[in-house]
Amino acid sequence: MKGPVLPRVFSSTQIAAVRRALLAWYRRSARPLPWRRHPSPYEVWVSEVMLQQTQVATVIPYYQRFLQTFPTLQDLARAPLERVLRVWSGMGYYRRARNLHRGAQAALKKFGGAFPANYHQARSLPGVGDYTARAVLSIAYNQPYAVLDGNVARVVARLGAIPGNSSQSEFRRAVVGVLDRLLSRLRPSDFNQAMMEIGQTVCLPRAPRCPACPLRKWCLALHQSRAEAYPEPKPRRRTERHHLATAIIRQGGRVALVRGLDDGLLLDLWNFPSAFGSSRAKALHKLREKLASLTCSPVQMGESVGEVRHSITFRSIRVHLIPVEVSDGAGSLRWFATNRLPGAAVSKLAHKIVERLQEASSS
Ligand code: ADE
Repeated sequence: MKGPVLPRVFSSTQIAAVRRALLAWYRRSARPLPWRRHPSPYEVWVSEVMLQQTQVATVIPYYQRFLQTFPTLQDLARAPLERVLRVWSGMGYYRRARNLHRGAQAALKKFGGAFPANYHQARSLPGVGDYTARAVLSIAYNQPYAVLDGNVARVVARLGAIPGNSSQSEFRRAVVGVLDRLLSRLRPSDFNQAMMEIGQTVCLPRAPRCPACPLRKWCLALHQSRAEAYPEPKPRRRTERHHLATAIIRQGGRVALVRGLDDGLLLDLWNFPSAFGSSRAKALHKLREKLASLTCSPVQMGESVGEVRHSITFRSIRVHLIPVEVSDGAGSLRWFATNRLPGAAVSKLAHKIVERLQEASSS
């Protein structure tokens, strides 16, 4: 690894003063979140996985319900996956729930049912990456690992007026350098949560509440009167245009769905069988091949019955709705009643298509 990119922006005395001010503020101002009341490592693990892609306010009721259903790591490990997914349902990103379940099973088998208090052992669990290992080890076991998420990176970038954005390795190195010096070795649990708390409640991306910030005395971005200018925006990826041919397979009030969309997208969600292409014709061709292998039987594709527009991250998609006849009980397709789609396990695009089909049939 290269050495620090920036000159040392803070002296050791300043670093100690920032740390003290941060921890004192956290003692006064921390929100009483449910995973902050003497949590077990298992509870911290669950909360951290939930908080990775979901906002605090949304997580709270799911967290409570999850722990009522699976109070211990053993309960989770021994539960059937379908039950875990049901309790998770509504929060999205189901891969997190699958990994948590697999991780709990591995922890039961390898570590006697506890989340290990050792970084390398923690990382050996399925789904436990660097972020999760650091978060659980620091928050639950008070081990001196700094935790860096997008909110914390913003706080550090402003504090040190660090130029650049998180897509740049120099920026990330500089942020990690300052954060590691700041980390309280005595109270890493409170320190990490305090940094997250400042990022979520004070050092906001837009209109930061600088007068309420315990670190304002030291904040170099604020001294420049340019808090909002840090971090710099990430370069936007250009929008790509795609065609998606989608098979509408119906029987009475039911439609046939598969897991995943295409190109490795929406892997955890139920979707109409679909194929991407750079043109309508290419997408249709790919869909025909995909259906043949999905159903192991010949399929009959009709003319497009409509089009839906949809975006997934940087893809702007024209979705062509193609009615398809298949012989019964086909392969990996699963039938769902359109009036009782299992809410969250079905993609937004599939919901959109069902709505469109219902509008078409009622008009
Ligand atoms: N985001 C990630 N971890 C968190 C935590 N422990 N508290 C609040 N927000 C978080």
